[in-house]
Order: sequence, then structure tokens, then C-alpha cells
Amino acid sequence: MSHTERLPRNRTYLMCPPEHFTVEYAINPWMDTTVPVDPALALKQWHLLRDTLSDLGHAVHVLDPAPGLPDMVYAANGAFSVDGKVYGARFRHPQRAAEADAHRLFYAGGSWTYADPLHINEGEGDFAYLPGAYGGLILAGYGFRTDPAAHAEAQEVLGRPVVSLRLVDPAFYHLDTALAALDDRHITYYPEAFSPASQRVLAQLFPDAVIADRADAEAFALNLVSDGHHVVLNTEAMAMGEKVRAAGYTPVHVELSELKRGGGSVKCVVAELRP
Ligand code: ARG
Repeated sequence: MSHTERLPRNRTYLMCPPEHFTVEYAINPWMDTTVPVDPALALKQWHLLRDTLSDLGHAVHVLDPAPGLPDMVYAANGAFSVDGKVYGARFRHPQRAAEADAHRLFYAGGSWTYADPLHINEGEGDFAYLPGAYGGLILAGYGFRTDPAAHAEAQEVLGRPVVSLRLVDPAFYHLDTALAALDDRHITYYPEAFSPASQRVLAQLFPDAVIADRADAEAFALNLVSDGHHVVLNTEAMAMGEKVRAAGYTPVHVELSELKRGGGSVKCVVAELRP
């Protein structure tokens, strides 16, 4: 494939500052409640990421952080939007349940069609959208957080085919820790995070994917945000930066070490809004 295809497209994102960020409960293997977080550092790193996205020409909306919701900084989990329609989140763990309401209120203030979910799902944590693949394809993860019944529900709400993929490694508990869209029709993923059958499905649909290894996945390198040309990844993910560069993209590294303590990186803290 010619690298001239790697054209950026202006995006609209939603982020929530980590003003109340702590690790006071552990709902994924990365969270360690015995090590205190550095809130000032978390906030500084978050601001640098926001400024990086703005400087690349993207619009960034900010959601007001709420006290008592320490994971609210992971804004990607609050909903999933495609073509102006929003499939709301319903969190697996009660500690995060109220975050869905804050996101619902955000969408109520715009011209979105919002659907409240019946089934447990964690928004863009477990859903990715490839507008240029097969006419518009949704990839969806299950196994740890999102209920597979939510995949069918999302398909009904959003009117796009949803491909269900089973996650099998607890370290990679959300789809966005194991797979990312590099542009409208290309992905990168870590195969071993998926069941053998799901690996076959991915190989069939995306034979030209950039393949990541375990070290990439553990560096949260798959937890990236791409505008189709610039691929924003954390500074631990240098090896992945070179892989995407070899595929024709331009890596942009941002330090996000403090937010890894909650089990997330770049993508987890950035929701894409698709009007
Ligand atoms: N502590 C959060 C949780 O376990 C981290 C969420 C990370 N977000 C993501 N999109 N993977 O729910």
C-alpha cells in the first residue's frame, strides 16, 4: 500500500482532567492501591496530551470531572458515537457507574441521538470504528468488561455491522489495550490478547494490520490515538512508534506514566466524537 494514503483528518475529542484521579480500588491488574499517585504529575501529563492534540489541529472538548469518580479521566469508556448516534455506556463495576450519567449529560447538550444501553458495555474501551473498512465496521471486545449482548445492541443502535472479538488476557481487559485503528481502514493489534478464533477473524478482515508484540502491549502501545497520519502514543511505546513509522505514519510520543497506574494510556483518556 502506498504511504501517500496516510492523510490526517481533523477530529473532535472529549477529555476529562484527572483532578480527582486516585487508585483507591483495583478493578484491573495494573491498579495497585498501595502506591499513592502523584495528582499534580497526572494533571500535567494530561494537559500535555490535550495540548498535543490541539496543536495537531483537533478540537478537544472537556468534560467537568466529578469528585468521587477517580477513573473519570478515562473518558473513552463513557460512550461510543458513530454518525451522530451515541450508544451510552453501562459500567461493569459500581465504582464507575455514575460516569455514564456525566457523559449522557454532555451529549444531551449537543445534537446527538443518545441511546441508553440495557447491556453492560464500556464505550470506546471495547468498541472501535473503522469508517473506511467494509463500508463502515465496528470492532467490539468482550471477555472482561463488555457483555457480548451489548455488541448486538450497539449494532441495532448504530446501524453498522459489529464484529465480536473475545479478549483472553486479563492484562488487556479492554479492546483498546489490544487493538487500535490507525486510520479509517487499518488497524494494529496484539494477536495473543484474543482467542484463537478471534485472531483468525482479525487476520481475515485485516491482512495488512501492523502486528504488535507482548512488549508493545505491556507498554500500552496499542492504547493510541491516530488522526490517520499522526499516531499519538506514550513515551514507553518507542518500539511501536517505529513500527507505525515503518507503515507510513508519524509517531508523536507523550509522557503519560501516571495514568498507567490506573490501567490506561492515551486512548483511554480520549473519546472520539463522531458527529
Ligand atoms: N481504571 C480504569 C478501569 O479499570 C481504567 C480504564 C482504562 N480505559 C480504557 N479505555 N481502557 O476501568
